[in-house]
Amino acid sequence: MRRDDVGLVDICSPGDTHAEIAIAALEAGKHVLCEKPLANTVEEAESMVRAAEEAAKDGVRSMVGFTYRRVPAIALARRLVAEGRLGTLHHVRAQYLQDWIVDPQAPMSWRLDKSKAGSGALGDIGAHVIDLAQFITGDSIGRVAGRLRTFVDERPLPSAHSGLSGTAGSGTGKVTVDDAATFLAEFRGGALGVFEATRFASGRKNAIRLEINGSSGSLAFDFEDMNLLHFFDGTDDAETAGFRRILVTEAQHPYVAAWWPPGHLIGYEHAFTHQVVDLVSDIAAGNDPTPSFADGLGVQRVLAAVETSSDTDSWQDIER
Ligand SMILES: NC(=O)c1ccc[n+]([C@@H]2O[C@H](COP(=O)([O-])OP(=O)(O)OC[C@H]3O[C@@H](n4cnc5c(N)ncnc54)[C@H](O)[C@@H]3O)[C@@H](O)[C@H]2O)c1
Repeated sequence: MRRDDVGLVDICSPGDTHAEIAIAALEAGKHVLCEKPLANTVEEAESMVRAAEEAAKDGVRSMVGFTYRRVPAIALARRLVAEGRLGTLHHVRAQYLQDWIVDPQAPMSWRLDKSKAGSGALGDIGAHVIDLAQFITGDSIGRVAGRLRTFVDERPLPSAHSGLSGTAGSGTGKVTVDDAATFLAEFRGGALGVFEATRFASGRKNAIRLEINGSSGSLAFDFEDMNLLHFFDGTDDAETAGFRRILVTEAQHPYVAAWWPPGHLIGYEHAFTHQVVDLVSDIAAGNDPTPSFADGLGVQRVLAAVETSSDTDSWQDIER
């Protein structure tokens, strides 16, 4: 942290380490890119925001890694909503569906340990769709009512583990996080939201599915077809109106001009490249990057409220 030849710290370790590393880096005057979710608790996230705001006074920048914002089709969705092409927003449907632990013999890993991960599907993947829904709509969630569920609460300990996959060894460990999270949401601007995050959607590998319906149009996206955005323009002539399939590979589309000719698709990794380009460009220009730690705290508050709602069977308000 104190080395002069380190200018930026990229925190890509489990959630229980984020706050300590980020605060130490910011206090040492290093720019920080911190993986999502920002922290494991609201309190940790609040202390990270305080450190980020203090460091920003000296031009030290921070960003949280909600990478999917940088998928061109998602950035285009945000642009269309901001241009008013959907009118007043009524519905937000957001799902993040995976299936990597539907097998009860899939072994334990840090993602299934609350002390390391903070929560399960909720914070790991639900955090992404909460951020995307708030990013695309330009609105924020004001209230939630949720339900968390752990379908398999004991699993083999791993003999080997890499990324999301592992090999079962001997002995078992207790799963202390949710396998799935669902919640209803009321946006401050009036839209209704339905959210789902699960690691038990058999056959769905990384399906980030978003559909937004407004008074004059709709958008639909699925990460498993990440170069496509579906747009319904309600002002079209009724005879020919319908969802149009936009192949988001034109130079006019966000981020695409730096890549291939139209129709030459990009992939998962490109969003990480876009994230770094945006971060270093902002650092060079002296701008505060987004999503900020404050944006990460906003998502953390929604995660905590969903958990409390599930525990107490009640609607929970989200602090601004
Ligand atoms: N932005 C995204 O789309 C995205 C995608 C995947 C993971 N993530 C996030 O990245 C982070 C890491 O996830 P992953 O899938 O890469 O996990 P991983 O298990 O593949 O890697 C974690 C790494 O952290 C290291 N580590 C563990 N404890 C540490 C400690 N105390 N100090 C320093 N290093 C430590 C491990 O050795 C390992 O190299 C998590 O916060 C996760 O949510 C974000």
